[in-house]
Amino acid sequence: MINVNCLNNIASVGLDLFSSDYNANAAFEEADAVLVRSAKMHDMELPDNLLAIARAGAGVNNIPLDKCADKGIVVFNTPGANANAVKEHVLAALLLASRDLLGGIKWVEDNKDDADIAKSAEKAKKAFAGKEIKGKKLGVIGLGAIGQLVANAAISLGMEVYGYDPYLSVNAAWNLSSEVKHIVNVEDIYKECDYITIHVPALDSTKGMINKAAFDMMKKGTVVINCARDVLVDEPAILDAIKSGKVAKYVTDFPNTTTAGQEGVIVLPHLGASTEEAEDNCAVMAVKELRNYIENGNIVNS
Ligand code: MLT
Repeated sequence: MINVNCLNNIASVGLDLFSSDYNANAAFEEADAVLVRSAKMHDMELPDNLLAIARAGAGVNNIPLDKCADKGIVVFNTPGANANAVKEHVLAALLLASRDLLGGIKWVEDNKDDADIAKSAEKAKKAFAGKEIKGKKLGVIGLGAIGQLVANAAISLGMEVYGYDPYLSVNAAWNLSSEVKHIVNVEDIYKECDYITIHVPALDSTKGMINKAAFDMMKKGTVVINCARDVLVDEPAILDAIKSGKVAKYVTDFPNTTTAGQEGVIVLPHLGASTEEAEDNCAVMAVKELRNYIENGNIVNS
């Protein structure tokens, strides 16, 4: 019997892949393997018999990697399994930052009892007028699974796309549309682009990389989208950049008390990977990785 503890409510389709030789509801202390989504594991005492942790998602910053390395616990993630969901979420963020759909929806709610709402809407049309993204410059920082999809989709929406990734893989280069312009210095993204979206992992080298120095280089009215990790953006500095007009909108998928409710910020509750399809894909991939390791000793990070 192999015991798998499931820290988050991960789609049962993944767990179904385990045969009856598995106990998928094992207590944490008895677990041979742990399946986790975004629950933070840093303060948890890891059982001595734990063999592996599979993160159903891309980021592994909720897992104490040093502790795992010391104890010989193998950590898997599921790269690419939720990339399409995040891509669609980023496109929605681009459009939300450009067309005041949120203002329009609120206006209708506020005026729902107005018998002349259709007539009053003429004024609302002016008040909530937006901008088109076609022809605008989009900078994509990080061209991994998600960044590539975002870049290609933005090309198909008529945007001029600039991609930056110092570690661009050959595979990624093949997958990218030839219309994506490859940028060697990230500063050129800050200086040139109307929209900037970030798709890099949270590492010591990337924490706070979108900071005051970056905002100072940006054009007035730049839109910044962060569906990657909160720590990548210096948020007090972006609030200043919004006040000064450098940044027109900041869309973040990471709610916190610094940005929630602030002028110029659209805050979402980390919905990027929250689709039925992505949850299933991640769960299935994570379980396959665990199974492959526990049953066959293979370490294959999909
Ligand atoms: C990820 O890193 O892929 C996301 O944080 C997934 C999630 O929402 O759990």
